[in-house]
Amino acid sequence: MAEKTLQAVLNRLYEADVPDKADIEYGLSLQDPAQMGELFAFADEIRRRHVGNGILLRGIIEFSNYCSNTCEYCGLNKTNTNLTRYKLTDKQILNCIEQIANSGIGTVVLQSGEQTDLDAYWLAGIIREIKTRFDIAITLSVGERPFDDYALWKEAGADRYLLKIETTNRQLYQKLHPQMSFDNRLKCSKDLGILGYQNGSGNIIGLPGQTISDIAGDILFFAGERFDMIGIGPFIPHPATALSDCPSGDVEMVLKTIAVTRIITKDAHLPATTAIGSLNGNDHRPAALTAGANVLMPNFTPQPWRQLYEIYPGKRCSTEAPGTCGPCIDIMADTIGRTIDLSRGDSLKKKRKECA
Ligand code: 5AD
Ligand code: FES
Repeated sequence: MAEKTLQAVLNRLYEADVPDKADIEYGLSLQDPAQMGELFAFADEIRRRHVGNGILLRGIIEFSNYCSNTCEYCGLNKTNTNLTRYKLTDKQILNCIEQIANSGIGTVVLQSGEQTDLDAYWLAGIIREIKTRFDIAITLSVGERPFDDYALWKEAGADRYLLKIETTNRQLYQKLHPQMSFDNRLKCSKDLGILGYQNGSGNIIGLPGQTISDIAGDILFFAGERFDMIGIGPFIPHPATALSDCPSGDVEMVLKTIAVTRIITKDAHLPATTAIGSLNGNDHRPAALTAGANVLMPNFTPQPWRQLYEIYPGKRCSTEAPGTCGPCIDIMADTIGRTIDLSRGDSLKKKRKECA
């Protein structure tokens, strides 16, 4: 039987081609603070070795909060009729991009709710305009779409796409996403890989009914699909949703998931998500950055719209003006002995493939 000391498990997780699910669950089940500290320190060292000491920045613009979906945890879901909906104009979006480019940041993330009537040609036009005017990588995060839309946007110049699987437990997925299809989400995720996007996934920790085995399954999925980016954040209950009375995700479980994901995936880009910066009013992003994460996503959505992109309550920086994150992020990096990296931060997996 495989040795079950923590050090032996960590070494196996790092070295195995296909990690053992029981080892992942062992890491996720740690409760003793000293042992958790050992896990985080190990992941931090793997992060240093494989992605270095730079914290990559991605400037995010939440250009619309319209949504056709009914995700049970999400404040943007279409049944929330109390939310004022917005969509930024082309000019407003391009102004935000200019602000990001002027800050020296090499990547913009264009995010919105999953809106079935989003005009694919309109977005392709925006992508082309950005690529003509700025030397900046574009990540899209606008949900499930037909293959042809993804192809159109790739052709227009989009570099990356974030489509979180949210949970790989099919039953749990169906329960939390009535009217959506787990199989279609998987298909979309694979289509993005086929089209050559730098491909992002991720999950939510602490969804009602989610088990440690489910989270271990998520990590195996992330590793098996060789995602370039993986966003891991806690569930935060939104008062206007069916899950309003459910407890938030556990911060330590989020950190353990980030750490195990880092150890197994090695060079994936892992953000210290805004959700982990917002949990119970505390900013746990420094903890995430010292447990395996290497990316931050400063928000450039202008006011007053930023406050309306309320996927969960208490979202950090939602009342600040755009561009104010700079000093705050510099101090954060300094405090944990890291540096800010403004480069495009392309996939390290892709680079390796190109060199081969
Ligand atoms: N708590 C935490 N994360 C959430 N998301 C949506 N609603 C919530 C919530 N209540 C996350 C999903 C989605 C991303 C944009 O926000 O993972 O992919
Ligand atoms: Fe909007 Fe799920 S409810 S993406």
